[in-house]
Amino acid sequence: MGGEKKEVVHEHNCIGSGIGVSIISIISLYLTPEEGGDVMRTVICDLLGIKYPIIQGGMAWVATAPLAAAVSNAGGLGIIGAGNMPGELLRQEIKKCRNLTSKPFGVNIYYLSPCVKEVVDVVIEERVPVVTTGGGNPGKDMPRFKAQGIKVIPVVSAVALAKRLERTGADAIIAEGMECGGHIGDTTTMTLVPQVVSAVSVPVIAAGGIADGRGLAAALALGAQGVQMGTRFVASTECTVHEKYKEAIIKAKDRSTVVTGASFGHPVRVLNNKFAREFLHREQQGASQQELEQLGTGRLRAAVQDGDVEYGSLMCGQVAGLIKEVLPVEKIISQIVAEADEILQILGHQITAGKR
Ligand SMILES: Cc1cc2nc3c(=O)[nH]c(=O)nc-3n(C[C@H](O)[C@H](O)[C@H](O)COP(=O)(O)O)c2cc1C
Repeated sequence: MGGEKKEVVHEHNCIGSGIGVSIISIISLYLTPEEGGDVMRTVICDLLGIKYPIIQGGMAWVATAPLAAAVSNAGGLGIIGAGNMPGELLRQEIKKCRNLTSKPFGVNIYYLSPCVKEVVDVVIEERVPVVTTGGGNPGKDMPRFKAQGIKVIPVVSAVALAKRLERTGADAIIAEGMECGGHIGDTTTMTLVPQVVSAVSVPVIAAGGIADGRGLAAALALGAQGVQMGTRFVASTECTVHEKYKEAIIKAKDRSTVVTGASFGHPVRVLNNKFAREFLHREQQGASQQELEQLGTGRLRAAVQDGDVEYGSLMCGQVAGLIKEVLPVEKIISQIVAEADEILQILGHQITAGKR
């Protein structure tokens, strides 16, 4: 059945429009279990061997084995954020994850990490089924990943990079809008996702600003085959960050985040606090990249481990204003799927009614 779906998607893509991709996702959404379909099943589910097209973003320091395993157990794809981890630490995290789930999970590789070479080796040795990548081009490692059957899904914030990475063999693309938490590009999810969908033939996953069923339904309408969420999963029971970090996300409103680091080309979205204000002030005063990097060193760790919500760097997306409760991962995912399913059915009826 999975093979059949992929063939149809290919046919539509030959027309040269991304619209075909969204048609397929909606068709599969409307197949009831009795008709042989699954609720909210798209080609991403077949590609990754997961039940729902929901991926948890790889987040340095934040996305550890318990979170990744909880997401995979709930039917999504959990991802361990390797960040700047040394290879052996990552190997332990992968083993922990395997003890907590038998489902597929992934590792996010940060290509600017000083440990990237050993991280790639560990991922290959451990035969992690999926990698997502950021901070650089995974092209040179692609043959090794492919030889092990590892699916490679780069995160991009621009169309040109999506096309280049598709040519190097990416299995899917995560198009991430600048609403997201952490490092950001300069286009929004609403504008980026459909442009990437139109530009590539592989499935696209939307990221940035998605935290509920409305966001998932909207992403599917834009032609994405799934979503990646970060901020929503930080505020989950299984996430191992300090409770004060989670509370800060719950308290946040629509305009509670700011972007630091833009002055030296590394913009990062964080919650506005004393650290962020000090950083922005120094940027306005013309501080050098080196001074600013020194100021930022250890700040994410302080937020995650010590719960320092004043002087820590609390990476967080604009969608935080929508998140009202810390919830178990299973509940987050089941609510999102049910809500998106309902919205798509209502929209389907409205469109039919409008045509009469
Ligand atoms: C605390 C935090 C840390 C993050 N760290 C990484 C990272 O190490 N690598 C990466 O590719 N993306 C990272 N991201 C981005 C997420 O993987 C994801 O794409 C993003 O959070 C989606 O947008 P949202 O925050 O609006 O849900 C991070 C996001 C957050 C909130």
